[in-house]
Amino acid sequence: MKVKDKKTFYITTPIYYPSDKLHIGHSYTTVAADAMARFKRLTGYDVMFLTGTDEHGQKIERVAKEKGVSPKEYVDHIVAGIKELWKTLDISYDHFIRTTDPEHKETVQKIFKKLYDQGDIYKSEYEGWYCTPCESFWTEVQLNEGKCPDCNREVELVKEESYFFKLSKYQDRLIKYIEEHEEFIQPPSRKNEMLNNFLRPGLEDLCVSRTSFKWGIPVTFDDDHVIYVWIDALSNYISALGYLSNKDEKFKKYWPADVHLVGKEIVRFHTIIWPIMLMALGEELPKQVFGHGWLILEGGKMSKSKGNVVDPLILEKRYGSDALRYFLLREVPFGSDGVFSNEALVNRINSDLANDLGNLLSRTVAMIDKYFDGTIPSCAELEDVDKELMDMALATPNKVEELMNQLLFSNALAEIWKLIGRTNKYIDETMPWILAKSEEQKPRLGTVLYNLAESLRFISVLISPFMPSAPDRIRQQLGIDNFDDLKSWDSLGEFGKIPAGTKVQRGNPIFPRLDVEKELEDLEKTLPTESQKEDKSKESSKEKEGDQKKDTEEKAEITIDDFAKLDLRVARVMAAEKVEKSDRLLKLQLKVGDETRQVVSGIAEHYSAEELVGKDLILVANLKPVKLRGNLSQGMILAASNEDGKLSLVTVDKEIEPGSTVS
Ligand code: MSP
Repeated sequence: MKVKDKKTFYITTPIYYPSDKLHIGHSYTTVAADAMARFKRLTGYDVMFLTGTDEHGQKIERVAKEKGVSPKEYVDHIVAGIKELWKTLDISYDHFIRTTDPEHKETVQKIFKKLYDQGDIYKSEYEGWYCTPCESFWTEVQLNEGKCPDCNREVELVKEESYFFKLSKYQDRLIKYIEEHEEFIQPPSRKNEMLNNFLRPGLEDLCVSRTSFKWGIPVTFDDDHVIYVWIDALSNYISALGYLSNKDEKFKKYWPADVHLVGKEIVRFHTIIWPIMLMALGEELPKQVFGHGWLILEGGKMSKSKGNVVDPLILEKRYGSDALRYFLLREVPFGSDGVFSNEALVNRINSDLANDLGNLLSRTVAMIDKYFDGTIPSCAELEDVDKELMDMALATPNKVEELMNQLLFSNALAEIWKLIGRTNKYIDETMPWILAKSEEQKPRLGTVLYNLAESLRFISVLISPFMPSAPDRIRQQLGIDNFDDLKSWDSLGEFGKIPAGTKVQRGNPIFPRLDVEKELEDLEKTLPTESQKEDKSKESSKEKEGDQKKDTEEKAEITIDDFAKLDLRVARVMAAEKVEKSDRLLKLQLKVGDETRQVVSGIAEHYSAEELVGKDLILVANLKPVKLRGNLSQGMILAASNEDGKLSLVTVDKEIEPGSTVS
């Protein structure tokens, strides 16, 4: 009999730059990809989950030189540490690719040659700027006060003979593709950003080789050149599947990828350069590129150079991989930025894991122990309250699946926690300790305890993609860890599968309650969370340009105290003018009480300088001042915007003195 082919699912993380300190922000993408890979395996897919390291480029060559080792020695050492981190966080990747793997190098060389042979790559001369930390090319106009517009660091003037890739030739095809494939770039706000900021203004051909350093994949037909790292790196998604080799079964099986998970700052490479490479190669495009937000600390995005990195190894050691993974995926809606804080972590562990889940298990097992001598009783006649619990348990898997298919990890977990909450409420409603007082009520008590155990079995399966070891610890206490058929997704089609008579095994709390104060004190000593050094590193171009376009994605909940941190004021525009060499920026002089403030705002495409004068706007007055294109900006004015790129300034509806507070 021919076994029916399984459905396939191919998911990737970005490949990481070898860095001796991967922080919790890096772990975020990989944990999310892992949860998704585990979920798909659980629901019957043949999964290919790829991660790895991006090891070439000028940056690595320089660091290795500084350390007095060869680039290969340097990366070998670091990659071992990265693999160790993924092991600690229970990352179940199917393949770990290194761009120094010989098979990868060969594929990249073949890709380059193919594009050259067909005329999509040509030789010319490059003169422009290069940001080594970002490995990005910039034109003079794109620079921000002579610095990299992405990370604000120094750029270098590069003038060398180079190969170029004809991005411009494919631009219209790509625009059409993106417009016709809603799901290709997610969340939708990132799609608009790519179309409006990069594609529609027009693409320049991309410089795709370098001659001024050696640590890269050589161009086979021109020894002096090494291939641009992003061409090298992006190719990993297909070289790992044996593309253009004689072992390309995996490519045939898994390509196109179902989803590339990437951080928002590298969406540009994945939705412009990568699809154009694939178009030129005549291959299908990935079904989706999902640009998730950043985990940030108060000082901005975590980065080693800012000294504000949170070490996942320290947290894992204290709280375990389950708790850390749960926190990362529950706390922040996946498309949005989210603030990491020790307090939020410890509180979530206490409330969601120790209280809601841990206590539910301990109470259930303790009651089975006490009232039925440790044996799961059988279920007798059902009452409405039992049916309600069962119906909810049976409905939860589909809801979770729907949310997971949209990468809504936090919402999927919230759905599971609704079932946990319902089960806890079921204990309050049925009051087993009262039932236990009368012998007559024994069958009813048995039914209640059986349903509690079965509900916990459902929960153990549902949480398994997110928390790799808690499910087995739950099953051990329920005495069902040897029953494989009770662990599958399909087993959630029926409520009542645990055999009555199973022996439970009381154990320690699966998530011990933490002493919040003590934890915060200890963590404070090891993990910085505030007053970070001046940002010298990657910041979003949004922050850089004073762009007030709001993300339309769901944001994390805030308290009234969070809101009270904002100093919002009415500000009257006294004068306005365009910022030189910028199509988007206007420089405004605002009257705020007795003070005059200068604010630079990215609204020039929506308002002329003249029409703004005299308007009363709303200013975020206590925003840290920044310099935009050399102009001091002391705050930010508020505006509404929608997905079509429309923008409207927020104003007051009656005359009121400038400087009045807004709350
Ligand atoms: N090497 C490139 C990717 C090439 S993919 C063909 C790269 N590497 S990286 O190590 O700098 O970043 C890897 C991933 O980690 C990116 O998706 C990035 O967005 C993510 N993160 C790094 N810091 C982060 C946070 N603070 N928060 C969330 N994700 C972050 O870019």
